[in-house]
Amino acid sequence: MRPETKAVHTGVRKDDQYNSVITPIYPTTTFEYTDIGKNKGFDYTRCANPTRQGLEENIAALESGTAAWATASGMAAISTVILTLRSGDHIVAPRDIYGGSFRLMAKVLPGLGIQTSFIDMREPENVSAALRSNTKMVWIETPSNPLLYLTDVEAVTKIAREKGVMTVADNTFATPYFQRPLEQGVDVVVHSTTKYINGHSDVIGGAIIAKDETIARHINLMYRALGTACSPFDAWLVLRGVKTLPQRMEAHQRNAMAIARFLQGHPGVEKVFYPGLESHPQRELAKRQMSGFGGIVSFEVKGGLEAARACLKAVKVFTLAVSLGGVEALIEHAATMSHDAMTPEARARAGITDGLLRCSPGIEHPDDLIEDLSQALESAKVRT
Ligand SMILES: Cc1ncc(COP(=O)(O)O)c(C=O)c1O
Repeated sequence: MRPETKAVHTGVRKDDQYNSVITPIYPTTTFEYTDIGKNKGFDYTRCANPTRQGLEENIAALESGTAAWATASGMAAISTVILTLRSGDHIVAPRDIYGGSFRLMAKVLPGLGIQTSFIDMREPENVSAALRSNTKMVWIETPSNPLLYLTDVEAVTKIAREKGVMTVADNTFATPYFQRPLEQGVDVVVHSTTKYINGHSDVIGGAIIAKDETIARHINLMYRALGTACSPFDAWLVLRGVKTLPQRMEAHQRNAMAIARFLQGHPGVEKVFYPGLESHPQRELAKRQMSGFGGIVSFEVKGGLEAARACLKAVKVFTLAVSLGGVEALIEHAATMSHDAMTPEARARAGITDGLLRCSPGIEHPDDLIEDLSQALESAKVRT
């Protein structure tokens, strides 16, 4: 089946009692045993639940994985995967990475004896150079948050595989509609389903998808042990949202492309970051490993922090808020919002400046979004 059909049909469990067309919510915490060792496949909702299993089957099918777990947040998914590591292990991760992942890797994991090297992952050779004898995981985020840098997935997974190192890809930005890292050699995919997969800014959630059984066993142990599952109600909402993922992604991409083209020629804009632009240095790689360029555009306004502030105060259709991937347009100031957990030095190394704004166009008409940014940039120019 094609993604549009899988998104609508996979994991939809019609109930036997009334033949409902959509998956019912099973909010029960526990399931009756009819004898010792005998139940209908579920025993306790922290470990498994029929509504959640429907969502897990859907996401596993979209990502071409063997197994999936729906978690209470994207960070719960990331933590579950990372805690399969042990004290003394080492991670290689991109220096341009979601701020929450940076916080976990730079501020929490060292206390557990797990170190991370943050590198520029645009060049696969940098991964080879960063590998140590105790490296157990290469973390990929492509396109990255907030600069939309790309990692060559096939090249990096080949390097890691030769050294027996596990690879994990955060596929939140591209979504399985535009990119399927498991098909390109990655071992595990994680998502913040809070973003595009649910798509309606009304659930915090995450997902883990594994390619093979051995890794799936380790993740399953961690998932049960840590209790990172999401509630049946949240799973039900995400299963509703994911059905329109392909159509929403097409609309997000159409808007992102139109905005990127508008910004590129604007005199108040220093730089535009969008892999779909002809001027993007990694456009060919994007075309090779993705079937679309995604829905996020970042740009640097001329005039730094003050110009960024003026622009953000002036937007009317865009809302100034963290997060992304919903049907409504959001805009944020990466340095003080999504990436405030990074030290100023780490932001400088990654290239996240005080004038950088990250836009997540929704599914609105592109002209309304462009007109809004146009008047906001005009206002920034007047004030600086
Ligand atoms: C790329 C990426 N990964 C992970 C996360 C964390 O997800 P959550 O906020 O659902 O915990 C985010 C959140 O913004 C993100 O942008």
